[in-house]
Amino acid sequence: MATTTSDQVYVWAWLRGATAPVPAGVLERRGGSTDLSFRYGERYKAREGALPLYGMPFDGPTWHGATENLGMPGALRDASPDAWGRRVILQRVKPSSEDTGDLDEATYLMQSGSNRLGAVDFQASSRAYAPRIESATLDELLRAADLIESGGALPEHLERALLYGTAIGGARPKALLADGDRQVIAKFSTSTDAYDVVGAEATSIHLASKLGIPVTRASIAHSLGHKVLLLDRFDRGGDGTRRMVVSGLTMLRLPEQWLPSGSYPALLDTLTREAASAKGLNRAVFTRAAFNIAIGNTDDHLRNHAAFWDGTHLKLTPAYDLSPVLRTGEAAAQALALDWKGNRDSRLSTLVDAAPDYRLDRETARGIAEEVTDVIREHWQDAADFGELPQAQRALMWERMFLNPGSVRGIAG
Ligand SMILES: Nc1ncnc2c1ncn2[C@@H]1O[C@H](COP(=O)(O)OP(=O)(O)O)[C@@H](O)[C@H]1O
Ligand SMILES: [Mg+2]
Repeated sequence: MATTTSDQVYVWAWLRGATAPVPAGVLERRGGSTDLSFRYGERYKAREGALPLYGMPFDGPTWHGATENLGMPGALRDASPDAWGRRVILQRVKPSSEDTGDLDEATYLMQSGSNRLGAVDFQASSRAYAPRIESATLDELLRAADLIESGGALPEHLERALLYGTAIGGARPKALLADGDRQVIAKFSTSTDAYDVVGAEATSIHLASKLGIPVTRASIAHSLGHKVLLLDRFDRGGDGTRRMVVSGLTMLRLPEQWLPSGSYPALLDTLTREAASAKGLNRAVFTRAAFNIAIGNTDDHLRNHAAFWDGTHLKLTPAYDLSPVLRTGEAAAQALALDWKGNRDSRLSTLVDAAPDYRLDRETARGIAEEVTDVIREHWQDAADFGELPQAQRALMWERMFLNPGSVRGIAG
């Protein structure tokens, strides 16, 4: 397949309640820059029910420039492939290359499939919509992912299926699947996993649900010797409709996810300012931060937080990528700072000290932190059963990833 040579990529969007997309505008390189800028189509703006993409109001500039370091406006970058998807595309388009920086952004947009995050797609034409989709079974997708990881060649049909199933972010191998009306993300275990990564995430999802943190339906499947986590998608209506989604990175208008300026209070601030109703948001964000600390999920960067966007308001999505990380000792740092000062120390006591940054009083904050540890203790075995964690994995993870003494000291009984 040829690399895209066109400098124009048309953006199509699903409006509220719609089961088919309409042309919304165009991405183009301008003034010799390699970055892509976006301009709305006049017909789109005039359309009934047209909604602006996040951060790009209709009454803004004609051309909306790229977010620094992201190659295009953040709202569109959120819908383009990440580390894993880029790897798959690179292997197809330029098999001899190892560096995902070898392809331009337009190529990643045009080579990835149409079943992507949120409610936009990228097309070569503004007239006819030609979705890039190809179905395959879970077994086939896993075999294809294995081959990608070992650098092997893929049969044409599997290659296309995997390629089109990777139009979603994240670094871990995964694929998008349709199971009747159910749209799922399948996250694969790999031979290089140092522990049961898939089981740990499933365990965490179960614990989060016990705490009242919204999560989507999850289940474990087995295929070809791999454990697979199947997750219902929160950006699909099940009836062909799609919801727009914005990452934390785009909400905070930051150029990259690891910046110390990104913090839970900053996220809370933006969500509050742009919410239809901010009731309970401070408690919700604080609880998510406390939970990530308590399960040892230090990979809580700004692409692992997101909100729905309806053209006017933001609303936090269910939590996802709740992935505990193995650590050797007690000390660890969260990717996302816990307070306005930029403190990332992975300790519940640090978070409780930051209570005012969440507009919570200290007693309430402490109560939430205690509840988080209590619920994890109480439901650990059930959750580990749900995650199908073998005994040796439970022993490895308990009080090391989940409720590490360094994280819960001074809080847990
Ligand atoms: N349940 C879901 N519904 C819709 N989109 C999701 C869901 N879970 C994750 N995503 C999107 O897919 C991306 C990759 O998923 P994630 O679990 O973060 O994978 P990874 O472990 O590879 O980072 C996320 O950044 C988010 O945009
Ligand atoms: Mg992720």
